[in-house]
Amino acid sequence: MRNTFKLGDFLSEYDELREPTKRDKIIRDEDYKKAWLGVLDTKTIEALETLKRRKIIGELGWIISTGKEADVFYARAPNGDELAVKIYRIHTSGFRNIDIYVMGDRRFSRARSPLKAKWSWARREFKNLKRAKRVGVNVPTPISVYRNIVVMEFIGENGIPARLLKDIDDLINPQKTFEILMNDIKKLYRNAKIVHADLSPFNILYHRGIPYIIDMAQGVDISHVYALKFLYRDIRNLRAFFLAYIDDIPNEEQLFYEITGLEPNDLIKNI
Ligand SMILES: Nc1ncnc2c1ncn2[C@@H]1O[C@H](COP(=O)(O)OP(=O)(O)O)[C@@H](O)[C@H]1O
Ligand SMILES: [Mg+2]
Repeated sequence: MRNTFKLGDFLSEYDELREPTKRDKIIRDEDYKKAWLGVLDTKTIEALETLKRRKIIGELGWIISTGKEADVFYARAPNGDELAVKIYRIHTSGFRNIDIYVMGDRRFSRARSPLKAKWSWARREFKNLKRAKRVGVNVPTPISVYRNIVVMEFIGENGIPARLLKDIDDLINPQKTFEILMNDIKKLYRNAKIVHADLSPFNILYHRGIPYIIDMAQGVDISHVYALKFLYRDIRNLRAFFLAYIDDIPNEEQLFYEITGLEPNDLIKNI
């Protein structure tokens, strides 16, 4: 059948889109087999076909990242726009224990089969990105979700993804970046009514002077029993990174108060 994803197509697409750098080649060699065996199972290939048919994805490119429970691919829309396609693994042993996040979140309380759990993971990410985007937080614009696949705006340029904040050691305006991020957390909490719950310099892309928050699947509604604990941890993670840059950075309690209007108790601080 034409129009199906085959390994051969994948290789030629990879070669066509860009001259691979040495780093690409290393990633490709190490991850190819794993990705094809682990991610692109029949169900996922079917889902990609559907996204192609719906003209959301044009060409699927190379792998940007392989994580424990998802892989991120570079792709192009039919109109040439650059896309990031995050595919949650259907078969994996190292799946993050989602129970703590899903339990107590009214939006996702129904029991699901393991397959549908992965679909709901993708849907959570998509919905959280939408909510964040709606209140003006810098996140990749969510484009589509189908089964275990989230399609979103690519943060980067010409196939080169933006760097993660953790890899940036020459931040130009740390004070401003910190303020943007604290403001984003506040908007998430107050307006979108969610807590990211895995926020750290590992989940922030830095592109053209703007920090973009990513990886929102585990974001919880503020009604979640642990929402404030997760929020406190998010604040702590970010503050720890900026400590190296900003001398008079407020302490964790002050930042937490600034965002929520609440004094954190010991239960919240212990996580
Ligand atoms: N929208 C995007 N644009 C560019 N790169 C992205 C995008 N989303 C994810 N990535 C890349 O993929 C990596 C993994 O994505 P992430 O959502 O954090 O998944 P994981 O659950 O594996 O941590 C990121 O560190 C980043 O390098
Ligand atoms: Mg991540």
